Amino acid sequence: MFPKINPSTTQAWNLLEKHSTKMKTLQIKELFEQDPERFKRFSFCLNQTVFDFSKNILVAETISQLLQLAEDCKLKQAIEAMFEGDFINKTEQRSVLHTALRNFSGKPVFSAGHNVMEDVKRVQDQMKSFCERVHSGEWKGFTGKKIKYIINIGIGGSDLGPLMVTEALKPYWIEGIQPYFVSNVDASHIAETLKKINLEESLFLIASKTFTTQETMTNAHTARDWFLKTAIDEAHIAKHFVALSTNEKEVVKFGIDKANMFEFWDWVGGRYSLWSAIGLSIALTISYGNFEELLHGAFNADQHFRNTEFEKNIPVLMALIGIWYTNFFGSQTEAILPYDQYLHRFPAYFQQGNMESNGKSIDRNGEPVTYATGPIIWGEPGTNGQHAFYQLIHQGTILIPCDFIATAQSHNPIGDHHQKLISNFFAQTEALMNGKTEKEVEEELLKSGKNAEEVARLTPFKIFSGNKPTNSILLKKLTPKSLGELIAIYEHKIFVQGVIWNIFSFDQWGVELGKQLANKILPELENDTPVSSHDSSTNSLINAYKAMRN
Ligand code: F6P
Repeated sequence: MFPKINPSTTQAWNLLEKHSTKMKTLQIKELFEQDPERFKRFSFCLNQTVFDFSKNILVAETISQLLQLAEDCKLKQAIEAMFEGDFINKTEQRSVLHTALRNFSGKPVFSAGHNVMEDVKRVQDQMKSFCERVHSGEWKGFTGKKIKYIINIGIGGSDLGPLMVTEALKPYWIEGIQPYFVSNVDASHIAETLKKINLEESLFLIASKTFTTQETMTNAHTARDWFLKTAIDEAHIAKHFVALSTNEKEVVKFGIDKANMFEFWDWVGGRYSLWSAIGLSIALTISYGNFEELLHGAFNADQHFRNTEFEKNIPVLMALIGIWYTNFFGSQTEAILPYDQYLHRFPAYFQQGNMESNGKSIDRNGEPVTYATGPIIWGEPGTNGQHAFYQLIHQGTILIPCDFIATAQSHNPIGDHHQKLISNFFAQTEALMNGKTEKEVEEELLKSGKNAEEVARLTPFKIFSGNKPTNSILLKKLTPKSLGELIAIYEHKIFVQGVIWNIFSFDQWGVELGKQLANKILPELENDTPVSSHDSSTNSLINAYKAMRN
């Protein structure tokens, strides 16, 4: 049974509210002064990755109350329900089993009485042999040329995951393979991509769980028309178009051979699908072996999540710390700041992962929630972010808990680049915590030769209040395995928060209304007749567009 507990009615919530009043008066740097063991107490390792939670506004009592909250909300039961394939996505009556896609335990996993591992293995074998055929050149284009360009056409979960992972694992790209990702329905996206490829050497992956998504199907048809303009014969499509989908009927209707369809299932959520057939662009780009390493990394994290006691459970602690700031400090946002250029799409990936999962305001009992749920997720790679938006994190008026992510070993050890990068990673979390006091600022200004009047005038602007919370995540090296682990840790963090907030994290009804209205407006754009069926703003904008477009 999946629990349905309103967290704000628990005793732990009540205690946390009281506890937070006291904690708001404490300084993290003072907590370090009082406790030399603080790092040891609040940092954890998963294989070769260090997760340091010590630079947060918390003490042992905070963690024990948060763990009590997890218990009061029956988190353990919820975790088991997910791994066991219960229909925890209740509004769609589905299991949530992305963990089965990376299950190397050898044990079966059931959804509605069916062992899904047989299906998983079948499609993984199909992906593996397809990758081998493409890479060896056995799979040829219609003119006999080897495939060079992989063009993934998909959007949301059918784009962001594969794009993020292929970018993150660029050092593992197979020579002679160039992936592209087309997502936006804006024709410029596909038009600019088609300019870069040669159709004889191109393989289009039409990636869509439903195979009905407007953006993807529009781009897919444009790619198909572009291809047929030169290739002429529809029979050639079989060599250049494959489908990654759950919807065989629509795939066949589009003209893709059933044999060229890589199946997945309704128990794989779109934003959790990179581990499924949706990951084919990853496997084609970095090799199936490396894709499997990614799955192994995620499996390690799954085992850690399922089997580790909560006080040492990394995703559970990350989730609880997030809840601490969201619900007891009024924080509305979290930043993800990777100090690794290869991770430049990681924040965007978890923007969907987190916001589409936990951006909900109705609880699992169908009642409006009375407390805050999912935060706004955003971020850019360091050090670029430092020169763009860190000003607000340091001296603005809102609290932004940040995750700093870095790697100890660079894939490009050139000169002292990496030392410089990583020194910024260390410096920022220290600066955010310590800040700079009035006294320190005055001393610094006097030392720089400013007179007393200038010191008095400038000091208020140069003070940093500090006490800004951060998590630091230090990977040894960005590899398929360590990346798989990291992604799965973040996925489970989202799950834990959804359980505690008593919301359904695996549906996304909130994206429907805009789609419905766009479909209603689309036929109205077919002619130049002015419209009057909307509010005055929408009518006027549509009519202005009609007047301007020709
Ligand atoms: O944006 C809504 C959504 O359903 C996402 O959850 C999903 O990842 C995306 O659209 C793409 O859907 P599909 O894979 O069915 O094309």
